[in-house]
Amino acid sequence: MLRHLMALFILALAALPVSATAQDVRLPENATPSAIDRANTGGAQNLADIERRQNGAEIDDGFRRNNLGGDAATVPGLGPLGGRSDPDLWRGIRYNELPVRVSTMNKTGRVLVQDNGMWWQQFREGPLATYGAWLLAGTLAVLLLFYLLRGRIRIEGGKVGRTITRFKAIERFAHWMLAGSFILLALTGLATLFGRKVVIPLLGHEFNSVLLTGSKFIHNNVSWAFMIALVMVFVMWIWHNIPNKTDWVWIKQGGGFIGDKHPPAKKFNFGQKIVFWAVILLGFSVSLSGLSLLFPFEIQLFGHTFNLINDIGMAEAAGLGPLQGDLTPHAEMQYAQLWHAIIGFLMMAVILGHIYIGTLGMEGAFDAMGNGEVDERWAEQHHSLWLDEVKDDKRTPAE
Ligand code: HEM
Repeated sequence: MLRHLMALFILALAALPVSATAQDVRLPENATPSAIDRANTGGAQNLADIERRQNGAEIDDGFRRNNLGGDAATVPGLGPLGGRSDPDLWRGIRYNELPVRVSTMNKTGRVLVQDNGMWWQQFREGPLATYGAWLLAGTLAVLLLFYLLRGRIRIEGGKVGRTITRFKAIERFAHWMLAGSFILLALTGLATLFGRKVVIPLLGHEFNSVLLTGSKFIHNNVSWAFMIALVMVFVMWIWHNIPNKTDWVWIKQGGGFIGDKHPPAKKFNFGQKIVFWAVILLGFSVSLSGLSLLFPFEIQLFGHTFNLINDIGMAEAAGLGPLQGDLTPHAEMQYAQLWHAIIGFLMMAVILGHIYIGTLGMEGAFDAMGNGEVDERWAEQHHSLWLDEVKDDKRTPAE
């Protein structure tokens, strides 16, 4: 009995400080609940409210009760969502009934979540990024190997010191506008695709954010310079790039890369014609898909193309079965993005080869685009038929 009394006494002592604390914050019995000062929580419940509720006393929870489901306009002070809960928001987004304003003029742009997006995102982050990176790395490796095996293609017998005009100022202007814009587009495009994977782990989120904001601005605006230069180059050089019978000789002699013979060539040899047509065709395709990305949902390229491929029986022949031609506006954009990137990668691989041969790979080549003048011996060895034509033109007085 005595032991029970002792235990009760100790328990009472232990409980004393707790009830004393609760007593301190509890409002006087007659205090109205709204008398609680909620300044420190911006009007939301605070410790005094919680303790009153735990003690079974009446509390004023109007700040919460009255804000259920209200939006920001009717419930100011609770942030952009007002009294809406997150599930409300996400459900709304899922069914395109947005409780928030999406700042786009285009109605289709208000669709923020759609199931089609998953395969696109996985393809973009998976095969596209992986094979794209391998293509560029492989091209660099092949160029390095070629350099190690073949070395720099020299001007046999050295320069003679007499030069001949190869490209006029307008041609060089167009070329460098094309080259400069392409290099900027390639670098900013790569940053956009690999930023999350490569830049964030190395340099952090802040850096990547600034890099990608700048990249987007550059990519969207410099694209116009690329398209203008592409048209200029096409108009100026198309006549020199129509295939003709001298190309056969070039092909049969392996372009002069294998062996010591220099195959005859007019202004552009067959290898350069391949570069020209690759630049024109891939450049046109990358521009078209780029325009459809620049003006979302306005240019629909893929549904029509898939229907055409079905109609002419190509899909069946390739064992793909009928392709789905009835695409949602978002699927159109996803195909445009993937196509844009694939063509961009192919073009980068071609251009790496072109830059190599125009700089390190061949002595005397850069001058053609540098100051426009090439050494006569270089012209003799690489473009003998063109050199003859130019000399003949000079000899024949203009009528
Ligand atoms: C640093 C980069 C580049 C250098 C050093 C360079 C150099 C050259 C040179 C020296 C030529 C004249 C070859 C000759 O005399 O026969 C040339 C031609 C040409 N370049 Fe570039 N280029 C560069 C980038 C680009 C880019 C990015 C493009 C296209 C996107 C491009 C497209 C062309 C085309 C279509 C031709 C005519 C066909 C040919 O010669 O292959 N170039 N370039």
